[in-house]
This record gives sequence, structure tokens and C-alpha cells, in this order.
Amino acid sequence: MNLDKNKLFSLADSIRAREKGDKVYLRGIIEFSNYCRRNCLYCGLRRDNTKLSRYRMSPGEIIKRAKEIAALGIKTVVLQSGEDPYYRLKDLTGIVSRVKELGVYVTLSIGELSAGAYRELKKAGADRYLLRHETANRKLYEVLHPDGSFFNRVRCLYVLKDLGYEVGAGNMVGLPGQTDDMLWEDLLFMEKLQPEMVGIGPFIPHPDTPLAKEKGGTLEQTLTMIALTRIILPKANIPATTALGTIHPEGRELGLKVGANVVMPNMTPQPYRPLYQLYPGKICVNEDPDACLPCLKRRIEGIGRTII
Ligand code: SAM
Ligand code: SF4
Ligand code: FES
Repeated sequence: MNLDKNKLFSLADSIRAREKGDKVYLRGIIEFSNYCRRNCLYCGLRRDNTKLSRYRMSPGEIIKRAKEIAALGIKTVVLQSGEDPYYRLKDLTGIVSRVKELGVYVTLSIGELSAGAYRELKKAGADRYLLRHETANRKLYEVLHPDGSFFNRVRCLYVLKDLGYEVGAGNMVGLPGQTDDMLWEDLLFMEKLQPEMVGIGPFIPHPDTPLAKEKGGTLEQTLTMIALTRIILPKANIPATTALGTIHPEGRELGLKVGANVVMPNMTPQPYRPLYQLYPGKICVNEDPDACLPCLKRRIEGIGRTII
């Protein structure tokens, strides 16, 4: 995109400061299953990736970990997984209601479900739902998702909104075949949807997927999209994503300086952390599960911001 980047980044940063202040919101994420029934071309968890060892956390393990997160003072627990039908709706509502009892906000990120399932999960206490639209270009979406449709992705997002969830959309940057025009389509799509949260990260090619030999998204492209998103959605909660921290050692700090106001420490316990392998080189997976928090605190304070 041909824009004056310095002006763009400082405008986005000033809008972030005006609308969200200097506090950085923490969302502790538990990646509770790496089984997935889908085959998204870019993702290491896709069902045809037979090289990956699969795991599932039991409801008891998930609730125990959520308790530990709440005890650390983190006020949002994000439960994320592949699309794993092993967990029945009543298992999921049970987990959500137990986590909600801890007095935290509950965010789900478990893919496309029926409107009825989204309704039951909301009733059980889920507050927010992350479901990136991935790309707003229908053709590209359908190439990348052999077993999904853009129509259904969008339908899910609007159903979630109607049910009263705070909704998180967002896209990957640098997908194979993605043009600048398609990135503008992402921005227009989000302007129309008005999501409360937007996750934007670079595409990172995974060696055991059909996109292994493609190029990944760049730091500059991703920062540009974060900044533009902050400008069109001044009040949105925008994370500086783990993928951004993976392609550059200071990716998350840079994201926080161009419009982002959220970070999502990986709180998945060992031995599961390295197995939630969406893309190679994912940061933090070999650390002690509680090490991310002090590390992030240091990093955030290092750029003159504070965590909440
Ligand atoms: N299964 C749920 C879904 O797809 O919405 C939630 C988990 S999914 C692993 C979370 C996000 O990971 C996706 O929305 C996608 O944007 C991101 N992701 C997957 N593979 C990636 C890759 N190779 N590079 C960067 N991000 C990736
Ligand atoms: Fe499954 Fe989500 Fe990965 Fe697609 S992006 S393969 S739905 S975990
Ligand atoms: Fe995970 Fe630094 S944020 S170790």
C-alpha cells in the first residue's frame, strides 16, 4: 500500500491513546484442543496434517487452568481450539459456566457452529467470540477453505452479533494471491460489521500444509493493516498478535505502537503448548506456562505502557 507510513502510524497511535489510553489489556488464552475437522490450507492443525500429535484437554484440566489464570489477576480467559466435535455442546456449556463462575470474561474461539449452539454458549456465560473472517475476498476465501464458505463465515459473525456477543473479526496479511485491493476489502468489510475486536496477523507458511512453499506476510504490511484498522474502528480492541511477535522479535511492541491495545499471553499448559502449531516458530511455546506474564509486563513497560 502506497501510504506515508510514519504519518499513518503516528495517527493510529494517537487515536489509540485518545480512545483506549495507555493500558494494555491482557487476555489469557488456553488452546484446549488441536484436533480439527477442517482443512484450511494455511493452518498446521488442518485435518490432513498427519504429522502433528493431537491432544485434547479434559474439562477438568481446562477449568483448573482457568482458575490459575484468574488467580494471576487476568480478567479474560480465551478458550480456543480447532473445530473439534469431540466436545459436545453440553460439555462446552458446562466448561463455560464453570469458568464464568471465576468472575472473568469468557471469550470463545472454537470456530463455526450453529446459531442454536452459539445461543446456548451465550446463555452459559460466554461474553465474546473470536472468529476471524480471514479474508473478505470471497474467491480467495473459498480457495483457502476447501470445506467452508465465506457466506457461512459471515453468517456466523452476524448471528454472534445478534446474540449479543462482543465479536472479534480480522484477517491474515500476506496470504498467497492476496492483493492490496483485497486488503482494502477487509477494511471495508470490518467497517460494515463494526466488530468490537479485530485480530490481524501475518500469514506464516507451515511446512506440513499445501502452502508450505508460499511467502509469508511482512511486518510492514501487518503494521499498516493494524494502523488502518485503528483509524476506521477507533474503539475496537486490537491485539498485537503472537504471529506478529513470531515474525519479528519486537513485533508485538511494534503493533502496540501503531494502534494495538491488547496482548494475549499463551497460558496453555505443558506438555500441550508446542503442539498447538498453527505455524512454525511460534513464540513462547517452550517457556514455562506462567513465564509469559512477567515477560510481557516487562516488554509493555519497556515501551511506556502498563498492563491491566
Ligand atoms: N479454529 C478456529 C478458527 O479457525 O476460527 C480458532 C482457532 S484458529 C487456529 C485461530 C486463527 O489462527 C485463525 O483464525 C487463523 O487466522 C490463524 N492461523 C491459522 N494458521 C495460520 C498461519 N499459518 N499463519 C498465521 N495465522 C494462522
Ligand atoms: Fe481448523 Fe481453525 Fe486451523 Fe482452520 S484455522 S484448520 S478451522 S484450527
Ligand atoms: Fe511468552 Fe515472552 S511473552 S515468553
